[in-house]
Amino acid sequence: MKAQGKSHILITGGAGFIGSHVVRRFVNKYKDYIIVNLDKLTYAGNLANLHDVEHESNYAFVKGDICDATLLAGLFEKYSFDGIIHLAAESHVDRSISNPMDFITTNIVGTVTLLNAARNAWSDFSGKRFYHISTDEVYGSLGKTGYFTETTNYDPRSPYSASKASSDHLVRAYHHTYGLPIARRKIRRHFWLLDVASRQHATRLARTASGSEEGRLVRFFRAQHVESPNRPAKECSRDQEARR
Ligand SMILES: NC(=O)c1ccc[n+]([C@@H]2O[C@H](COP(=O)([O-])OP(=O)(O)OC[C@H]3O[C@@H](n4cnc5c(N)ncnc54)[C@H](O)[C@@H]3O)[C@@H](O)[C@H]2O)c1
Repeated sequence: MKAQGKSHILITGGAGFIGSHVVRRFVNKYKDYIIVNLDKLTYAGNLANLHDVEHESNYAFVKGDICDATLLAGLFEKYSFDGIIHLAAESHVDRSISNPMDFITTNIVGTVTLLNAARNAWSDFSGKRFYHISTDEVYGSLGKTGYFTETTNYDPRSPYSASKASSDHLVRAYHHTYGLPIARRKIRRHFWLLDVASRQHATRLARTASGSEEGRLVRFFRAQHVESPNRPAKECSRDQEARR
């Protein structure tokens, strides 16, 4: 049931490498938010990552699949989410080469199932946001020099990056077609390499990364409650949001 006066945020994939940092950060820092972590607990998910917050009163864990429309509808009804931070994914390139269908199912079908759940539940989009986490790998590969920008053409090279590119397009399509309020981030793949090399260093980096993302998100959600609840839905590019 929705707690009065509290924002309710659904975080998918919160038992994963990045998701667990995002969940911990929100649970510890924003006591006025109820954080619901939906995770299927695949080989990549580990609840031990969240041992220190599992009993917090503003945190709930739900084991489940983002492809399960019935489960999602029930969660939206129970919690009336104000926002979604969508991190759940099959995320390892090598596995996408050996087993692409898992990536198509979770990253594409799962994302659309989540988009549909949000669209069905949010009769009024004001104050709501679907925050989609993607990867810079949708732009292809760089040599030793160069960089990607928000306007670089998509050029995915693996089933993983192709599935993430598809999910990006679908999130954007739901914004343009239905007006669903969205934000997208294409983060860089370096955390897991560092994780292997130095868990401590990776943890510090991930905290920094989720911290800056978190700042934008929190500013957004707080602004929605204080400023203009009827502000029209807008897609925010990284540059636009950085200027806020
Ligand atoms: N790690 C990186 O360097 C990196 C870089 C760029 C983008 N990303 C993106 O960031 C997000 C998080 O990445 P990560 O490294 O934490 O991934 P991860 O593989 O460590 O965690 C993914 C989480 O999603 C869960 N999950 C998988 N399928 C699910 C399903 N069908 N339903 C519900 N939960 C499911 C897993 O159990 C796991 O906890 C992903 O969307 C990924 O594409 C990650």
